[in-house]
Parts: sequence; C-alpha cells; structure tokens
Amino acid sequence: MAIMTELHQEHVNLKRLLDMLDRKVEKFRNGTHPNFQLMSDVVSYVGGYADTHHHPREDRMFHYFAGRDAEVDKLTAECERDHEALKHLSSQLKDSIEGVLHDAAVVELDKLVDHLARFVQRENEHLNFEEEKVFPALDAVATQADWQALDAEIPSPSDPLFGLKQSEEYRDLYQALAEDDRDEG
Ligand SMILES: [Fe+2]
Ligand SMILES: [Fe+2]
Repeated sequence: MAIMTELHQEHVNLKRLLDMLDRKVEKFRNGTHPNFQLMSDVVSYVGGYADTHHHPREDRMFHYFAGRDAEVDKLTAECERDHEALKHLSSQLKDSIEGVLHDAAVVELDKLVDHLARFVQRENEHLNFEEEKVFPALDAVATQADWQALDAEIPSPSDPLFGLKQSEEYRDLYQALAEDDRDEG
C-alpha cells in the first residue's frame, strides 16, 4: 500500500507548513508585520501541491473504491467536496495576498489574516478527517489485492525530478519560514 504511505507522508509534510502558518497568524494578530512574499510562496505551495498533486491522487483512489460500501461512499464524497472547496479557498487567498503584494487591491490586513487563519483551519480539518475517518474506513474494506491494484493503477509520480523538485522547494520554504520565525523572535 505504497499509495497510503505516500499520502500519509504528504499529510505530515503539509501539516508542518500549516503549523508554521498558524504561528504566523498568531504573530500577525499580535502586531508583527507579516512577510507577505513568504506567505504568498507558502500558500501557493500548499495550495498548488494539494490541488494538483495530492488531491487528484486521492480522488482516483476514492473512485476505485466507489460502490463498495455506503458509509465509505459518504465519507469519500465529503472529501471530494472538500477538495473543491479548498481549491477555491486557496486561489482566493492567493489573489488577496497578491493584491497586497502588488498594491493591486485594497485589502484590509485584518481580513487577510482571518482569511489565512480560515485556510489553515480548513486544510487542517481536512487532513485530520482523512487520517482519522476516511483512510481507516478505506483500510477496513480494502484487501491486499486492492492495494496492489491501486499501486499499479496510481503509481508514484513517474518523473523523479518532480518529487525531488517538490521536496527541495518544500525544504527551502520550511527553512525560510523557520528563519523568519526566529528573526521575529
Ligand atoms: Fe484530501
Ligand atoms: Fe489528503
């Protein structure tokens, strides 16, 4: 079940970035001037990674199990709705941050921070929902043969550079966030 291991690892990685963003939200609310460029990069990364890489693989896995169990179908349908909603949320948030960066729009800082907080919360809730409810439910109905079939049907990203590039970008962003966090004290 390589796919489950990979999706879980991606949750762990995304969660680390979301925790960092959450600390940012707290600091903004306490009056620290935010580094909007960094914030924009992290939101783009989290949104981009989730929307174009992580969620589509999950959706394909959900389709594979469709029709097997009514309760599982209900859970995966909710996940797919989440994926759509999160996509909207991340692109809206990106637009607001870009607006601030380029002075293209008058965005109230308080509202932007609320928006960011909501994004972090919704992403976290979604990850937790999958980890606690959806993945265990899938695991309960799946056989060893299913996981083998799924690993063949939905292989790990075939371009090794994609994975490498992603992880390098991830490391760079995480480091930049950690340094920014230290500088702010
Ligand atoms: Fe998901
Ligand atoms: Fe997920």
